[in-house]
Amino acid sequence: MTYATLLFDVRDGIAFITVNRPDKLNALNRQVIDDLGTAIDQVRNNPDVRAAIITGAGPRSFVAGADIAEFQQLGPVAARRMSTKGSRIFRSIETSSKPYVAAVNGFALGGGCELAMACHVRLASDTAKFGQPEVKLGIPPGYGGTVRLPRLIGKGRALELLMTGAMIDAQEAYRVGLVNRVHPTDQLLTEAEKLARSILTNAPLAVAACIEMANAQEDMPLDRALAMEGTLFAALFQTEDAVEGAKAFLEKRTPGFKGK
Ligand code: COA
Repeated sequence: MTYATLLFDVRDGIAFITVNRPDKLNALNRQVIDDLGTAIDQVRNNPDVRAAIITGAGPRSFVAGADIAEFQQLGPVAARRMSTKGSRIFRSIETSSKPYVAAVNGFALGGGCELAMACHVRLASDTAKFGQPEVKLGIPPGYGGTVRLPRLIGKGRALELLMTGAMIDAQEAYRVGLVNRVHPTDQLLTEAEKLARSILTNAPLAVAACIEMANAQEDMPLDRALAMEGTLFAALFQTEDAVEGAKAFLEKRTPGFKGK
């Protein structure tokens, strides 16, 4: 399948999704959002895809936000529709049972920062820049920025970024916990792939349970979250992979997980 605004390439179980509008710094226009929705469905439905990496085309930008050129035609009804649709697609990344790694190779502004935050892990190139500059355009973020940024880096730091619209560099993003690691630009994709492959050596259902639980606990009181973890823990003991994992350890060999 080909996309107007994305490159989509599956290599040995990993989907490489590249937002491909480098002349517009990979800004998210309607077509990109639609294409991302379809690509994410493809990741979900294709059993040969077990993880995904999202990055941006060209040397300068991951995604420089929503396409501001489209804002001029937007009224409140269309803006709400746009926010609802983008948020649903970003949420489907966050709740995907297959892991998503963001390889942030440059500007991650507005919707770009929000897209990266919807991924399960974020790696940044040493040239990456992050920010939520929407207030400079007279609007707040609309794809989860006011929700995920406080959860990731704390309310005080998030509000500073949200209210100033300032950009931070990769090292600062690392310092505040917005990204997991910073890599030289030429090694970013290799490191993202290495990370994805290290996840893929583990039992897929157990990885999916970690994602499900880390998401679910955000809305739960501590005791309910711990109870849910216990339920998932018990449920996973019914899987063939749990038997295989312990057996392989005791037999001092690499487990052969099947996702069953
Ligand atoms: N929407 C639409 N077009 C965008 C864009 C966006 N979010 N971000 C960049 N572009 C376009 C520019 O209009 C320009 O197009 P042109 O060559 O046809 O004029 C091209 O991408 C290159 O960007 P330019 O601004 O010339 O590069 P720069 O190096 O001077 O600045 C940025 C880079 C990222 C600082 C600047 O592009 C910017 O501020 N972008 C908007 C970021 C933003 O506010 N995002 C949140 C939107 S809600």
